[in-house]
Amino acid sequence: MSDNKRILSGMRSTNPQLHIGNYEGALRNWVDLQNQGYDMFCMVADWHALTTMYENPHEVSVNAREVAKDYIAAGIDPAKSPVFIQSHIKEHAEFHLLLSMITPLGWLERTPTYKEKQQDLGSAEREPYGLLGYPVLQTVDILLYKPFGVPVGRDQAPHLEIGNDIAQRFNRLYNKDVFQPYKYMIPEDENRAKLPGLDMRKMSKSYDNGINISDTEDETAAKIKSAFTTPTKMRKTDPGIPEGCAVCQYLKIYSPNWEQQWEEDRNGERGCMQNKKELTEIINEYFRPMRERRAQLDDATIEDILRDGAKRAREVASATMDEVRSAMGIY
Ligand code: TRP
Repeated sequence: MSDNKRILSGMRSTNPQLHIGNYEGALRNWVDLQNQGYDMFCMVADWHALTTMYENPHEVSVNAREVAKDYIAAGIDPAKSPVFIQSHIKEHAEFHLLLSMITPLGWLERTPTYKEKQQDLGSAEREPYGLLGYPVLQTVDILLYKPFGVPVGRDQAPHLEIGNDIAQRFNRLYNKDVFQPYKYMIPEDENRAKLPGLDMRKMSKSYDNGINISDTEDETAAKIKSAFTTPTKMRKTDPGIPEGCAVCQYLKIYSPNWEQQWEEDRNGERGCMQNKKELTEIINEYFRPMRERRAQLDDATIEDILRDGAKRAREVASATMDEVRSAMGIY
């Protein structure tokens, strides 16, 4: 039986700061769902971060606390929605081992995200075994909580698909309906979810082309100041091409008058500096309540929140593990 109102999602703690792309592409949706009355379980996937950051495990652990702060800053209320770190729930490790026995290798080798990462790494000698199992661990994260749905960005769809396939295979192999299929809850506003980086490439921490939830107002202003605009627009009177300008793309998402701003930009009636100034004000205003909330979270508070979140998560996860062992006849 899946609990009708429970949903679960997570992000890897590869970095100490989430950027506004993480917010628009996922976190915002989590907060909305929480506020609609879903029981939102918010996990920080520190073990997943180790698939690429195995040389810096302590950093991953430190980052995990910062990611949790960003969840709460964004509007996750830890009293309603358990916030927890994956590695604090040892059931994830046990179930991962069991599912790794029943997951066909071919399913994992075919995963598009795996192929990409594999190419980045270059040689099989450097490729950790854990990377191949990434979707198995993600499946564990989900199935242990038997959620109704999983809110994620579109890029995660292949992992969610494998998850439902593994669940089905488990049910079939052990002849018991332990798991029901869960839904993919992908944000409807694809424009918002696909916010480009300030240089118009994909927003990514590794390109350092995003604005972080935790940036100060001055940092935000400096980043927007050096953002990519229409290269041929040297003066205010030169025509702009808003479709290819990062600042205009952001205005489209955040500014209520973006249509007029685009029109003026296109007609050479407004300059890039003005766009940047207005965007900075809007973005800083938008993120101000989150930044203020974040500033109030000290380390001790976060540890308490995570301990409480882990306790609530563990209750669900250990009950599922009891069912899993029983279905498998392991005692
Ligand atoms: N793979 C996800 C990402 O990179 C993170 C993740 C780990 C996750 N476990 C999960 C997402 C479980 C949803 C559910 O964004």
